[in-house]
Amino acid sequence: MTARPAAATTRVRLLPHQRSGRVELAVDVVDHQHGVRHRRLVVDDAHAGSPTRTALQAEFAAHDALLRAHPEWEAPVVRNGELVIQNPASEYFYASPTMREWRTALVPGAGALLPVQRPGISHLPSGAALDQTSATIYRDALDSIGVRTRAVVLQEIARRDARTLSEAARPRWVSLASGAAVPVLDAMAGIEGLAQRPHLTLVDIDPHALSLAERMVVEQGLELGPDVALLQRDLVRDLLVRPALLQEVGEGSADLVEALGIFEYFRDTSCVRLLREAFRLLRPGGSLVVANMLSDRRELQFNQRAIGWPQLVPRSVEELVDLVRRAGLPLDRTTISIPQDGVYAVVDVVR
Ligand SMILES: C[S@@+](CC[C@H](N)C(=O)[O-])C[C@H]1O[C@@H](n2cnc3c(N)ncnc32)[C@H](O)[C@@H]1O
Repeated sequence: MTARPAAATTRVRLLPHQRSGRVELAVDVVDHQHGVRHRRLVVDDAHAGSPTRTALQAEFAAHDALLRAHPEWEAPVVRNGELVIQNPASEYFYASPTMREWRTALVPGAGALLPVQRPGISHLPSGAALDQTSATIYRDALDSIGVRTRAVVLQEIARRDARTLSEAARPRWVSLASGAAVPVLDAMAGIEGLAQRPHLTLVDIDPHALSLAERMVVEQGLELGPDVALLQRDLVRDLLVRPALLQEVGEGSADLVEALGIFEYFRDTSCVRLLREAFRLLRPGGSLVVANMLSDRRELQFNQRAIGWPQLVPRSVEELVDLVRRAGLPLDRTTISIPQDGVYAVVDVVR
């Protein structure tokens, strides 16, 4: 990549946000070969002051080093509903009964993200009360921070786009693989001064995810029907293979389409199709936002073989740019944003 600073390296303070903290732009460079903009952000995930963060992260880093020294140590698996621990780093991570319930009952569904996105909750969606160990992990672990900071980037993009929205028509937002819809609902709550609150369509394959989303929607004071549509659909069958969802939601109808947390589960060809088809949902000027775990992130081994989150495909920035190029989307309207934790890259493309 040939990159040079747009002006000099810039530091700009953006608007503070009530739920999560500030977003600061630390580095902003344009790749002159492809026109893609690359941003490094400093994002306050709202729990940066946690007194247990430094100690927990030191322990995770030490276990990650152990895993790298022992490539033969295998990831935990769930067999017949039981967690089978296969290495000492997993034993450490799953010491708490709440963490074991989290893994067996909730991973890899949307419910597993909820305590990470809302570290203050008292119970897991599956019922277990959070103990001190699990609460610390949901608040302080690098992976937990990454899930929250990618959502803050979505909020910032939504605020940026809100300035260009027409006052006449009600904005329309779509969340693909919405899960419990926490990031998109927070993005909506973070916008001030809109003439009309966007109408939201939430699409997920999993009915449990959609019932969690329904709970979050109601908590936010929104009404199913007038404000929010819930669609239980398979993105592969109903968007990538045939245009059913495109017809149902409407080509060129959306101001914002976000699909955080799904690229990791798709192979490259499906990601390319998802980009292409989701982009068609947008009206001109609207934004598509996706994210992917980075292959050069810290503690990848801890994620894969201590936590053992199954079937994730991490990607490099270059691979993500290549997916956008293969989908035929405009590279000169593509921005890759990476918060300081370096766990995820958020890719947004403006139609
Ligand atoms: C990691 S969660 C992300 C949820 C949410 N976007 C977020 O960031 O909080 C992934 C979601 O993708 C959904 N999902 C997986 N495969 C899908 C498919 N083929 N069609 C629709 N949803 C799918 C899962 O049910 C799950 O809710």
